[in-house]
Amino acid sequence: MEYAKEIVTEEQKKGEEEEQVVTPWEVASKGKIDYDKLIVEFGCQRLDQSLLDRVFKLTNRQPHVFLRRNVFFAHRDFNEILDAYERGEKFYLYTGRGPSSEALHLGHLVPFMFTKYLQDAFKVPLVIQLTDDEKCMWKNLSVEESERLARENAKDIIACGFDVSRTFIFSDFDYVGGAFYKNMVKVAKCVTYNKVHGIFGFTGEDHIGKVFFPAVQAVPSFPSSFPHLFPGQDKLRCLVPCAIDQDPYFRMTRDVAPRLGYSKPALIESLFFPALQGETGKMSASDANSAIYVTDSYKDIQTKVNRYAFSGGRESVEKHRELGANLEVDIPFKYLSFFLDDDEELEHIREEYGSGRMLTGDIKGRLVEVLSELVERHRAARALVTDEMVDAFMAVRPLPNMFK
Ligand code: TRP
Repeated sequence: MEYAKEIVTEEQKKGEEEEQVVTPWEVASKGKIDYDKLIVEFGCQRLDQSLLDRVFKLTNRQPHVFLRRNVFFAHRDFNEILDAYERGEKFYLYTGRGPSSEALHLGHLVPFMFTKYLQDAFKVPLVIQLTDDEKCMWKNLSVEESERLARENAKDIIACGFDVSRTFIFSDFDYVGGAFYKNMVKVAKCVTYNKVHGIFGFTGEDHIGKVFFPAVQAVPSFPSSFPHLFPGQDKLRCLVPCAIDQDPYFRMTRDVAPRLGYSKPALIESLFFPALQGETGKMSASDANSAIYVTDSYKDIQTKVNRYAFSGGRESVEKHRELGANLEVDIPFKYLSFFLDDDEELEHIREEYGSGRMLTGDIKGRLVEVLSELVERHRAARALVTDEMVDAFMAVRPLPNMFK
């Protein structure tokens, strides 16, 4: 008996070491996130070169840097969206944000920068859900504070450059009701408690708001939730760009869609943007030194990058020259691969830094330049966003030229 007990303990230990947890509320792993394992676990597909080639052909422009660098790396039925688009059929985009903090960090910008590109490249309408209700329920924020944050975050989102003639931004507290709520109830009737327990891990201790919330995030995938935008277009397809931690919501949505007579939403999913301290999860809004914020000054960025960015450089210059940097773990190189648009320059840095000719101080210096430029551009754009513009994006209105 003693012996058997030992074995179980060892196995449990091993299991724990390997464990990575990826849910919409928690991303944790002991080491690097194993994205291949996630793809298998979640049942999505890898985005391959042939799909990128098709995007290039259909949009007549170089695929976005996030596609070229495999930042958006997984999908569900993206090929079907492209098939339909090729036949001349339209689709719409749906993405969102849970407004849990005042200032956005770079990781928060990733899906919006990418969605803006998709909107421009495919010329399609976009709905953006601000889940003030979600954050109120999960983060213990008051209703009023969640509403305020939603509006503040809307300004940052608008600053990413969305086209007001093709974009509807809504907050759940304001918009849920009518056709949207009817779809929520239809979804809720299809999903048992056992099912959400399986997908999201809810237990008997979780309050009932959490159990019902997945229906709120599901239904923007259905065109009939927006009668002012898509009247009589119940078959219109939906493409959701998101980070892969949102996949569970859409697994549930795709499961119920056919039963309600809707198309399954297609997904295009990104990696997490790593914390400055290294690639073990996504950045945490609660540790100010783990992330670069869009409100950081040049000095802040410089200090954070120089002091906290985990380096794959070696402990001495001699060793560095001899072995070269370990690019697998180097955060400055990772960040540049997200935000340095110039493919040739990135390749040059890969060669030089990877072989030890370029030093850690040099790559960090280049990163500080790239990030401050990005943050400065964002700050300037956000300063121009007025309350009237927020109202205009959030007005419940038809978008007559949304496919042009
Ligand atoms: N749950 C997301 C968050 O916490 C917000 C969200 C709502 C979302 N709908 C979405 C994200 C659709 C991506 C796609 O940030």
